[in-house]
Amino acid sequence: MNTNKITTQAFNDQKPGTSGLRKKVKVFQQTNYLENFVQSVFHVAENIKGETLVLGGDGRYYNKQAIQIILKMAAANGIAKVLVGQNGLLSTPAVSALIRQHKAAGGIILSASHNPGGPNADFGIKFNINNGGPAPTPFTDAVYEYSQHISSYDMVDSADIDLDALGQINIGDMLVEIIDPVTEYAELMSHLFDFNSIKAMFDSGFTMRFDAMHAITGPYAMEIIENILGAEPGTVINAEPLEDFGGGHPDPNLVHAHELVSLLSNESTHSFGAASDGDGDRNMIIGKNFFVTPSDSLAIMAANAHLLPGYKSGLSGVARSMPTSAAVDRVAEKLGIECYETPTGWKFFGNLLDDNKITLCGEESFGSGSDHVREKDGLWAVLFWLNLIAIKKQSVAKIVTDHWAHFGQNYYCRHDYEAIDSQIADDLMLHLVNSLDDLQGQSFGNYRIENCDNFSYTDPVDNSISSNQGIRLLFSDGSRIVYRLSGTGTEGATLRVYIEKFEADVSQQNGETQNVLSDLIEIANNVAQIKTRTGRMDPDVIT
Ligand code: G1P
Ligand code: ZN
Repeated sequence: MNTNKITTQAFNDQKPGTSGLRKKVKVFQQTNYLENFVQSVFHVAENIKGETLVLGGDGRYYNKQAIQIILKMAAANGIAKVLVGQNGLLSTPAVSALIRQHKAAGGIILSASHNPGGPNADFGIKFNINNGGPAPTPFTDAVYEYSQHISSYDMVDSADIDLDALGQINIGDMLVEIIDPVTEYAELMSHLFDFNSIKAMFDSGFTMRFDAMHAITGPYAMEIIENILGAEPGTVINAEPLEDFGGGHPDPNLVHAHELVSLLSNESTHSFGAASDGDGDRNMIIGKNFFVTPSDSLAIMAANAHLLPGYKSGLSGVARSMPTSAAVDRVAEKLGIECYETPTGWKFFGNLLDDNKITLCGEESFGSGSDHVREKDGLWAVLFWLNLIAIKKQSVAKIVTDHWAHFGQNYYCRHDYEAIDSQIADDLMLHLVNSLDDLQGQSFGNYRIENCDNFSYTDPVDNSISSNQGIRLLFSDGSRIVYRLSGTGTEGATLRVYIEKFEADVSQQNGETQNVLSDLIEIANNVAQIKTRTGRMDPDVIT
């Protein structure tokens, strides 16, 4: 089989963001665009020569074409074996699990997570290293650097392979094994959770709905929730993965998972609702007319983990991303374990997990996970909650309100201003950075800024420093306002503003979140001059 060295020219826009390289499909379809990036990855990940690579994606438009290209390039770059999910499908957490189980040198995930799919929507590619987690910043920086002056890439001359048929096939000297995407992941879950008690709960008439949003978790949820755990047929809705996610936005939140939300109204006969995103790493948990914020979900998991088989010896520690509410901090304090505050993005949890400093971690952006993989894991969180409900035999609302009664409540919301002009967004952030000295000690009505900074993180394992990770305003009553620019958007800039207020005594019945936070929201808008600078009167999305 011929290996060709194909001449190419560099693209200047291949800098990976929070979650790999994410662009419009049309950008990826440019001649040599994907190839350049993949060659840059193989160049930096030189230790994968002669080793195993895991490859799969969330099934979005261009997934299959990309897999064929990557396989031919992997063969030309000396990779010994590639594990590919059948039909090119693998969820992000399943890739992470496979890398670990098979001691692979790395994995490539094709996804743009919760962003829409289709010929005019988004695509993405991400490399995970041998611990199963996203490549760290020095790696992605090196990939970008190489992509800036790449002049050729290697590819074997071979026909496309059939991705539907399970089994083994060779491309040149490289072995390709097409595997069932679900089997090993389901096996892993069965060791972490008490499947028998969840099954017994379904047998006794408990019903739920899981919204796969026409994305990757459809096959996983069908197999685990309906087939293995015995939930009634129809439990998993929108179960078939589609290249355009049925035209929807595969993002599990109250806005985009509205079908699920309407199925869990007050009159619903179901007790539990959950959804996951495009690539299966996010989760949303709801009860009957009751939304569990991701920050609360993490705190509740931490407080109860010891009740579940996979975590019965307790937690070594926990971590949350900086903008995530401090609800889990209060649990850690009571448990007497460490709580780490990391920058946004899952990659920062990897070192802490590898070093056994933490067992659980999570982000406000509908992500939670544990030391079982090195990615956040949507279905894992859903099974965690199912197991918890089976043990406590209580409603979701009761579990959450009892938690608040014990630990206090962190009222929390996030305001997103999407697709704003990049220059305006940069200026707004710069203005905040320059205002930090003046803001220190300032009072706004009852609120006084006790501390403010541009968040910087020193990794406790490798001492690497990540600076410029968001502006924090910390108020004397424990309230917080955080500003940062998104690293995952594909159009202009997205400003995220996170607002949080702690209430120790929940018997005060403070009311609806946006009302409780209204003063802080106004302070947040004024300090950053959001309306005057962006011309936006309201956020595009509130979560
Ligand atoms: C967003 C979330 C972040 C998450 C990332 C990948 O990144 O805020 O928590 O890790 O997606 O799912 P952002 O767009 O804010 O950079
Ligand atoms: Zn995702």
